[in-house]
Amino acid sequence: MSFALAIRIFFFVLLVLSAVVGRRVIRWVQAFGKDDASRRRLKWLSIGTWVFLNLATVYFIVMGLRTRGSIQQTWHMIFLYPWFAWLVTSVALAAILTAKGIIALPYRIAQWWKRKQTGEQKADGDRREFLAKAATALPAVMLLTSGYGIVRAQSDFDWFEPELKLKDWPKELEGLRIMQISDPHVGNFMPGEKFAGLIEQINQRPCDMLVLTGDIINNNMAWMPECMEAMHKLKLPKYGAYVCIGNHDYFAGGPEEILHGMRDLGMTVVRDDHVVVPIGKSKIIVAGIDYPMWSGGHGLRGNRLDPHVDAALAGRDPEAPTIMLAHHPHAFDRAAEHGVQLTLAGHTHGGQFAFSYPGGKTVSLGDLMFKYVAGEYQKNGSYLYVNRGIGNWFPMRLGAPPEVTRITVG
Ligand SMILES: [Fe+2]
Repeated sequence: MSFALAIRIFFFVLLVLSAVVGRRVIRWVQAFGKDDASRRRLKWLSIGTWVFLNLATVYFIVMGLRTRGSIQQTWHMIFLYPWFAWLVTSVALAAILTAKGIIALPYRIAQWWKRKQTGEQKADGDRREFLAKAATALPAVMLLTSGYGIVRAQSDFDWFEPELKLKDWPKELEGLRIMQISDPHVGNFMPGEKFAGLIEQINQRPCDMLVLTGDIINNNMAWMPECMEAMHKLKLPKYGAYVCIGNHDYFAGGPEEILHGMRDLGMTVVRDDHVVVPIGKSKIIVAGIDYPMWSGGHGLRGNRLDPHVDAALAGRDPEAPTIMLAHHPHAFDRAAEHGVQLTLAGHTHGGQFAFSYPGGKTVSLGDLMFKYVAGEYQKNGSYLYVNRGIGNWFPMRLGAPPEVTRITVG
């Protein structure tokens, strides 16, 4: 099955799910009507709202996923953002209603059996009406929360400034500041103008070295000129800027063009390769891996990245302090085996939906897919930092803010 067909089927399934959940919500809303006429009005108003919220799904079923070129931000506000809010709400509601249905099944069977034995009627209408009214709180809260998540994903990034004590790190390189930008996803949700504004903010904070860890373009090379125009504004620090590739750069169909663009900006591309960066009397090795998820069958499992990590580090001076750039954080395991002091990754977007307990522990949607989701990790004296990304392909974040990181190593 082709990818384009799979996407269309996926959206068709979403439409069916949305219809099933929507039917239930419309019934709940109708309960607010005082008489038959007002109930009918509420019904048609709800149906109209449902149709509006699903227009984008129909568009994707007909046209496929790839949007051509720039979509005006206004159209996003009107169609896509409410669609995303409903999408998340309908999927979450479907999960809750299914769970409730399964849990309540024995009780409902018992009630049915009792009614059959005694000839008793179903629960009275007032109680049902009250329950239906109360149930509307669920989609209402979900839509509001999703709306907040959309606003948060589009808002400015948070600064994260960890200080990492790396093993066998030369004294002369202590205090080196590495700026990490990851996952800008220049595209519909990160137009060039917005990215340029964020770059102006990044320029305000000084650093010694800069890294960009993939997913530069979201899904269409039509965004490349805007991306280049924005990135021309980026100030490159004294010890250089280094780039590795991400899966979306392949998905967009132009990893070569993207990497050429980055080279034109004066950045160094590390693709299953490494460079030696002299700093005073010391030197740092900056290695980086390729991530051809869309062309070479490299999936989510870290061990598939091992050959790339091995290739990137082949022939390096094993005594020299080394930094590894890897879009996918699972490359860390192999990098740590090689004694790489610091691996810098992105890709996960912090799981997009995360919840932190007061004690500091965080659970996120990313835990279902990734071993390493956000922030610092340590293994055998090696460090990994997973950046939550500055942009998105799914424009909703809760508890996982957009991020730019400035790491001070010592
Ligand atoms: Fe990404």
